[in-house]
This record gives sequence, C-alpha cells and structure tokens, in this order.
Amino acid sequence: MGPTEPDILELPFTDAARGLRYRLSTSDDQASMRTIDSSFVTDRVFQLQSRISNLELGDIGFGLDIKAVQLDTPLHKSFPDDEDSDGDDESPDCFTVVVEDINALSTMDSPTIDPNTTGNNNKIVAFISAKFSSWNARLIITDIEISPLYRRQGIGRNLIRFAEALGSARWPVRHVWLEVSNVNYPAIQSYLKMGFKIAGLDVSLYVGTQAEGEFAIFMWKDVSGSAEAVS
Ligand SMILES: CC(C)(COP(=O)(O)OP(=O)(O)OC[C@H]1O[C@@H](n2cnc3c(N)ncnc32)[C@H](O)[C@@H]1OP(=O)(O)O)[C@@H](O)C(=O)NCCC(=O)NCCS
Repeated sequence: MGPTEPDILELPFTDAARGLRYRLSTSDDQASMRTIDSSFVTDRVFQLQSRISNLELGDIGFGLDIKAVQLDTPLHKSFPDDEDSDGDDESPDCFTVVVEDINALSTMDSPTIDPNTTGNNNKIVAFISAKFSSWNARLIITDIEISPLYRRQGIGRNLIRFAEALGSARWPVRHVWLEVSNVNYPAIQSYLKMGFKIAGLDVSLYVGTQAEGEFAIFMWKDVSGSAEAVS
C-alpha cells in the first residue's frame, strides 16, 4: 500500500486506510509527543571535504565539497531529551501538527483523561513543529519526528505539506527552512526527495553540545508560488 496524500489540506485529516489522524496539537499532547523515539541508524554520513578553517588571507575564493561517505559500522544517533525545538505553541507564530494512530492507545493514557472531552488519548506517532520568521517570510521547521515503525510511509511528506499549507494560510510565507545534522543522512535524503535544496552549513553550531563534531546543514524550499490552503 502506497502513501496516502491528502488531496485537500484540511485539518483534521483522517487517513482511513492507515488509521491515522492529522490534527493541530493541544497542550495535552506534550507528554505523548515526548515518548516518540526520534533516533535513527545510518551507515552513511555527509562529510566536508574542505574545511573552512583552511582559508588563508589572500585567497581569492574557496571550495567546499559535501560528500556522502560510507561508515565502517552503522551509527545509531539519539537526540538528547532536553533538545527542545525553538517552537513554542503558546506563541502566536508557532504551531504543531500531530499524527495519532487511532487504533492504538497512548502509553500516557490516564483514567483521568476523558476521551469524550479531550479526544487526545490516541497514541501520537509523529509531529511537526514550525515557527514563522516575519522579517524574511521564512517558515522554520523546528522539529519533525516520526516513530520508527511509521517511517517511510509518507507521513513525513504529509506533515511537511500540512506545515507549508497551514503556514501559508496564516502568514505570507516565501520559503520553508530547516536545519539538519550532517550525520542524519536518512533525513537529508528524505528532504531532498521532498523538494528541499541545500541553503548552507554551519560548522560551529554544535560546538559545546552533545553533537560536537557534527556540522549543521541548512535546507530550504521556495513556496512563494504555491497556493495550497489549510483550515
Ligand atoms: C526524516 C523523517 C522525518 C522522514 O519521515 P518519513 O515519514 O520517514 O518520510 P516519508 O515516508 O514521507 O518519505 C518522504 C520521501 O523521503 C524518502 N525517504 C524517507 N526516508 C528515507 C531514507 N531513510 N533514505 C532514503 N530516502 C528516504 C522516501 O522514499 C520518500 O521519497 P519518495 O516519496 O520520492 O519515495 C523520519 O525518518 C524521522 O522522523 N527521522 C527521525 C527523526 C529525525 O531525524 N528528524 C529530523 C531531524 S532534522
């Protein structure tokens, strides 16, 4: 069964074939979102072939090559629990879209939660958070996480589409932008397939963090011509 892409980007959206529901998050979703395993395994990473620090005064230019290299042993990368996104759903320039499996109950389920009033006791299996930067009309994807068992089924692509549409319905978005580590080869591949291009890199972003030694790759996608809307 192939991925189900919504024809009309209206939230909430139910993908009946897969038993998934896409909707805007509420404050009740935070604990369930934190249970998503965002780690990944990769046998390839991107590496810089020329280092920026090699530049010398008098040079008239420089070249940077980012190349995929095969690892001797696969890398299992986890993100620290406290690595929260910049987004804050309480803020009017942020939003989060969650995906819940309507056939699975959340492990965070509690008898104190009334499913008839909150409707939030289904297991959240994916989410995307985004924030609008008004000065350059940029929609920043601050986080996107799909539970391992739900990856490669089109959910990430759908979430990006919902974020683009929802962002464009709320603000005059010109482009979508995100940051990804050079070791996150699977995510970079998926963003390339979703239409993102390389915007640049930052070799200093993770210095002093648990990701020291990695570098940040920025990716962007021009959506100024798209007219999709979402309610
Ligand atoms: C990166 C991530 C969000 C992608 O979500 P996803 O739901 O698996 O992606 P989709 O199924 O929508 O795939 C979208 C496209 O990317 C491709 N793709 C997805 N994973 C891929 C992989 N590991 N390698 C190569 N291509 C991949 C798909 O084939 C698809 O392309 P196609 O439609 O042309 O066939 C997901 O893997 C994830 O949550 N990873 C862990 C957390 C993380 O790294 N978040 C990003 C931090 S920047």
